[in-house]
Amino acid sequence: MNKTIDVKLKKALTKNRYEHTMNVVKIAESLALRYHADVDKASLAALLHDCAKNFSCEELLAYAKANDMKIDPVTRLEPQLLHGPVGAVVAEKTYGVTDKKVLNAIHYHTTGREHMSKLEKIIYLADFIEPSRTYPGVDKLRSIAFEDLDKATIMALTNTIRYVSSINSLIHKQTVTARNDLIIKELKKNK
Ligand SMILES: [Fe+2]
Ligand SMILES: [Fe+2]
Repeated sequence: MNKTIDVKLKKALTKNRYEHTMNVVKIAESLALRYHADVDKASLAALLHDCAKNFSCEELLAYAKANDMKIDPVTRLEPQLLHGPVGAVVAEKTYGVTDKKVLNAIHYHTTGREHMSKLEKIIYLADFIEPSRTYPGVDKLRSIAFEDLDKATIMALTNTIRYVSSINSLIHKQTVTARNDLIIKELKKNK
């Protein structure tokens, strides 16, 4: 793990958020090993995935504006969704990350997107199944995550859509697009 980043990050996050991050790092590394992805990139993306999580909604919106980032209508109403996209810019500007694949995994870890890369799926899932997570079906998802990356990502996206609907909140269109895209790929695989 990158020691300089780790020291800086520890100061930027709450104790709980830092512990969550360490859990995500461990799971992301295991998933990367399992699916023959780059373990160092998975570790770095996991380490920084929530680096903007402690920004307030006002701070997220201000940071996005200052960096000319596009804000869609759903994100405008749910600014917490920005902690991924803003986190990617913070990872680059404050933590010196230059790898585009790592930055994308941070950017899309909350919403997902169409054509998710292996690394993006790994970070999305690791965030979802780390040991402190408790929600119905998490154990099943934990085991499927190590059996079939795409199936597990679909399950996680479905879970998110179901949960967000249950609390009458807005669903980000990229989450729907990510799920449809993976389901279409599964259907093609089984033809
Ligand atoms: Fe997050
Ligand atoms: Fe997270």
